[in-house]
Amino acid sequence: MRKITVVGAGNVGATAAQRLAEMELAREIVMIDVADGIPQGKALDQWESAPVEGFDSRVTGSTSYDAAEGSGIFIVTAGIARKPGMSRDDLLKTNAGIVRAVSTEIARVAPDAIIIVVSNPLDVMCHVAMEASGFPKERVIGMAGVLDTARYRSFIALELDCSVKDIQALVLGGHGDTMVPLASYTSVSGIPLSQLLPQERIDALVDRTRSGGAEIVGFLKTGSAYYAPSSAAVQMAEAIVRDQRRILPCSAYLEGEYGQEGIFLGVPCKLGEGGLQQILEVDLTEDEQEALQKSADAVRETMAALS
Ligand code: NAI
Ligand code: 2OP
Repeated sequence: MRKITVVGAGNVGATAAQRLAEMELAREIVMIDVADGIPQGKALDQWESAPVEGFDSRVTGSTSYDAAEGSGIFIVTAGIARKPGMSRDDLLKTNAGIVRAVSTEIARVAPDAIIIVVSNPLDVMCHVAMEASGFPKERVIGMAGVLDTARYRSFIALELDCSVKDIQALVLGGHGDTMVPLASYTSVSGIPLSQLLPQERIDALVDRTRSGGAEIVGFLKTGSAYYAPSSAAVQMAEAIVRDQRRILPCSAYLEGEYGQEGIFLGVPCKLGEGGLQQILEVDLTEDEQEALQKSADAVRETMAALS
């Protein structure tokens, strides 16, 4: 790909840019931010790491969207981050204004681009990005499930003292306290998790996953997680750039899938060339269906708070 732009050169955005460059996912990596000097300075610093790291992706920064013209993918991380005691929904109005403005600019300079939304509250910000850009649902995808699933997998690996590579799992639903880690789809090299851990330990890991974001905020105090979030967003970008057709849990616009209409929600998606290629519908137990409905209701409530 010729160009990928990261909007928001803060913790998540700048870390994502560095990862994109090190993976050489595009010839040019552009960072855009409203804080003059920050995108330029961080981009130059990253570019100066190129001779050591051995990458040839050119990293630049700007406050102007003209620098992003023709980008194939935008990773949108612009906004304010969660502080201790602040819920994701507290961020709602400020970030909606920011994401609306950003998405309008994206549509102006790169009308064929794919937007990967990261800004919170995630599922609602996806909606804002789709409306403001006018892009079809194939080209507006939210990052949350890859991160939530990675957290869940990392906790299972700690519990079993085994490699994270052998753990397959799926976390669906909205990116909030109502997310739905699917224990029935969690396995370790094909062995169902329920054969390896008692139910109360699985429940504890599920709870820790649900509050995974807050756990990091509790430690950092002045901001929220960014290493794992940037990895997750870049994995989605890689699946698209390399047309990998990976099945990843992403926030996608639903039109009847899982009984939901007109909202973004975390579901298993196939990502490849063009963005969202397919939404996969999997069987859920009654409890899981109920939990997914609760999660969808929570997203709808946030949507209502916005309007
Ligand atoms: P940060 O505060 O480090 O960076 C945000 C950046 O956005 C700042 O540099 C700020 O100047 C910039 N910005 C603000 N308004 C802008 C605008 N109109 N145009 C361009 N840039 C603008 O925050 P951080 O930690 O990077 O988080 C970014 C967002 O991502 C937050 O909303 C956070 O809640 C969300 N997040 C979402 C995750 C997910 O799983 N979906 C995971 C981690 C963070
Ligand atoms: C997280 O889950 C803040 O949503 C962000 O870390």
